[in-house]
Amino acid sequence: MATQVKKICCLGAGYVGGPTCAVIAYKCHDIDVTIVDLNDARIAAWNSDQLPIYEPGLDKIVFERRGKNLFFTTEVEQAVIEADLIFVSVNTPTKKSGLGAGFAADLAYVESATRQIADVAKSSKIVVEKSTVPCRTAESMRTILEANSNENIRFDILSNPEFLAEGTAINDLLNPDRVLIGGLQTEEGIRAQQALVEVYAHWVPKDRIITTNLWSSELSKLAANALLAQRISSINALSAICEATGADIDEVAYACGRDSRIGPKFLKASVGFGGSCFQKDILNLVYLSEQLNLPEVAAYWKQVVDLNEYQKKRFVSRVIKTLFNTITNKKIAILGFAFKKDTGDTRESAAITLCKDFIQENAKVRIYDPKVSVEQIFLDLSEPGVVDNTKYLKTRVTITKSAYEASEDADAIVITTEWDEFKELDFQKIYDQMHKPAFIFDGRLILDAEKLRNIGFRVHTIGRAEI
Ligand code: UDX
Ligand code: ADP
Repeated sequence: MATQVKKICCLGAGYVGGPTCAVIAYKCHDIDVTIVDLNDARIAAWNSDQLPIYEPGLDKIVFERRGKNLFFTTEVEQAVIEADLIFVSVNTPTKKSGLGAGFAADLAYVESATRQIADVAKSSKIVVEKSTVPCRTAESMRTILEANSNENIRFDILSNPEFLAEGTAINDLLNPDRVLIGGLQTEEGIRAQQALVEVYAHWVPKDRIITTNLWSSELSKLAANALLAQRISSINALSAICEATGADIDEVAYACGRDSRIGPKFLKASVGFGGSCFQKDILNLVYLSEQLNLPEVAAYWKQVVDLNEYQKKRFVSRVIKTLFNTITNKKIAILGFAFKKDTGDTRESAAITLCKDFIQENAKVRIYDPKVSVEQIFLDLSEPGVVDNTKYLKTRVTITKSAYEASEDADAIVITTEWDEFKELDFQKIYDQMHKPAFIFDGRLILDAEKLRNIGFRVHTIGRAEI
């Protein structure tokens, strides 16, 4: 008989823990879900009308279940004591110093959350690793928990990686392609695995719930992200060939994607992938391969990230070259700062690299994004710890309230995020207020280049030769 889960606690109210557990509460009215975080402000926001993250459809779900079977609190201890099942959904940033700096994940938060569970638990728990973590992290969590268990308290570890993408998180959670649950293949491990299967089975068809051993589950998460990012780097590598030859990357992607073995998704060329996962997970995979003494494998995956950096630099060079080899004091309107549309998240956004490079070249950068706050943009562009360059930044960077304001007197427009509203802009109006010649660099292939050329724009698109 599988253990029945009645109370769930989630450690970490971030991009992963918040939406995932809100959806569990929404779909399982018989389960109490408490999401805890050490960050008071974040919890206060989850309890307010203005949720701390923007995700279409999230408000409705939270507002419907909050206070009924969905709770947000900073009372970590109490929530852990009461829970049958605990999701560990804390941050796992890339290490900034020490062994594996720049590659390995910093597991300090995972370890401290695990120790916290061990310290306060008064009954047996199923502990679920939800943060993306390097392969075999569950092993360390298990060692810590087992060293703290006794005949009355046992801890079962599961790995349940989250595959949601930002901007579509709620739909991804409501209709997942699959749910993956890894566990130790012991009698107790399988029982714990079944308990979590039953939670998801409230709304996910059973044939979409995959159970594997612990290590397969952990590796699958890194592998899935590496494979997706690899497709983008592949298409971006081809976009460079297109620009040099006159082929059109959208046509190439369409022609290739029609092969049912390849498929059409994740073949959109861009100014480079961003987001909190792709780069981090690949670097983790690189580090893991090196640790396992597999340098060729490490080099193979590393190239996916290197190509992404190259794509951003290549785009910056194209802008500078086109603007007569200098952008000093030229006004460049940056449309989009989030790493993709429908999210306010800027982590690893290509726009950050581009803006920093433009500022370095003494350009005046005018940024508009429909969802990213002014504070966030300055935070991303400043270099804390080196020198406080905020004052200088403010002389170079203006954040505007619309695309029209950003492009006033601009020499060039650069599309960095594929927000739908950019397709609907009145480009005649924009053209009329720009310096001439007026340039547009479409880093997302979202604009109708022909129409823009007819207005008078000089248009440069990723993956297409200059005309
Ligand atoms: C990704 C994975 O998709 C998700 O399964 C995992 O759980 C977390 O990481 P996310 O980072 O939210 O999700 O966004 P995703 O839609 O995958 O896009 C990542 C980046 O790739 C974005 O910058 C996006 O603009 C870019 N991208 C995506 C492309 O440049 N071209 C494409 O064809 C697809
Ligand atoms: P992710 O994108 O993986 O969800 P985030 O950084 O958005 O990552 O969220 C992780 C959250 O986990 C942060 O809000 C952080 O305050 C929280 N956190 C870190 N350690 C603990 C802990 N021991 N207990 C509770 N919350 C924690």
